[in-house]
Amino acid sequence: MIVGVAGSGLMGSGIAQATAVAGHRTLLRDTAPAQLDKAHAAIRKSLAKLVEKGKLIGEAAEAAQGRIELTTELGALFDADLVIEAIPEDLALKNTFWGELDRGARSEVIFASNTSSLSIIDMASATSRPDRFLGLHFFNPVPLMPLVEVVRSVATSDASFEFGMRFVRGIGKEPVASRDTSGFIVNLLLVPYILDGIRALENGVASIPDLDLAMRLGAGHPMGPLTLADFVGLDTLARSGEIMFQEYRESRYAAPPLLKRMVAAGYLGRKSGRGFYDYRHDPPVPSTLGL
Ligand code: CAA
Ligand code: NAD
Repeated sequence: MIVGVAGSGLMGSGIAQATAVAGHRTLLRDTAPAQLDKAHAAIRKSLAKLVEKGKLIGEAAEAAQGRIELTTELGALFDADLVIEAIPEDLALKNTFWGELDRGARSEVIFASNTSSLSIIDMASATSRPDRFLGLHFFNPVPLMPLVEVVRSVATSDASFEFGMRFVRGIGKEPVASRDTSGFIVNLLLVPYILDGIRALENGVASIPDLDLAMRLGAGHPMGPLTLADFVGLDTLARSGEIMFQEYRESRYAAPPLLKRMVAAGYLGRKSGRGFYDYRHDPPVPSTLGL
């Protein structure tokens, strides 16, 4: 199968890696050439790590890298059997992309969005084939996280949904079915938890490292909420929270002021080098943030 992936950021690069390791020819498209270079390096590093840890043999890693074609051309995706979109969490941006792709894509193609919080039908409606449109929601870091939420909208056909479930199992991940409600299953519960961590910091409950340490050692979480926020990307987190707030009108989904200020300052977490921690230091140090 030929898989097209749109967006080669945190998620798109990981998704492309997963589909290539599973044996699919993978077309990875980004509008920013520099980002494609970054994605290429990130995939190489991640594959090398998996080889080092004995999770993948060297030949398989080489073969996977060889199955990924990097491109800035939208037209390259017209050949795909499945297109997975992982561009920024912005409905207008996504629908511009879907509209353009829809005009050139084959009639048999399946369209899938990796959105964190937007509604699938709001994107499907921008295409001429809402029955062939579903959500495939992967988790960060994709090479290590086994779950994919398979989301059917009111218009997704049974055949498209079953295709999604089979595809996810075929790349060695575990699918769960979710309805098309904002945040699906995981983010419905996870986003307000992370935002509560930021609110606790704003309210002076504890320091950045102590908030994280407490949730790691006291609740068994692999990362504390502020480390996780930096890991997800603060722009993505803020947008997802606001989209869920629009949907549910519950304050627990609203992005806290501190988060908005950090995004305004360009502190986007690990991907920009600064967030709740400053990644220009090794090991990273907590940011002061004027608190
Ligand atoms: N590829 C390959 N290897 C990787 C990797 C990647 N992308 N990322 C990390 N690793 C490696 C690390 O280098 C490390 O290797 P060593 O043991 O040789 O040092 C190994 O994996 C384990 O990493 P850690 O030492 O950091 O150990 P860990 O036990 O903390 O595991 C983790 C890492 C799986 C990321 C874990 O910290 C974790 O589960 N964190 C929470 C992640 C999470 O909640 N993700 C969901 C975010 S929300 C989302 O995705 C949805 C949304 O819409 C926003
Ligand atoms: P990111 O900012 O790391 O990457 C987005 C990429 O899309 C950028 O490289 C950008 O240049 C590119 N892009 C912009 N417009 C494009 C277009 N028209 N065609 C192709 N590429 C384009 O973002 P991300 O964290 O990878 O998130 C992508 C999507 O995945 C969002 O919808 C987000 O909500 C979702 N998601 C994010 C996470 C996470 O933890 N970060 C987890 C699951 C889902």
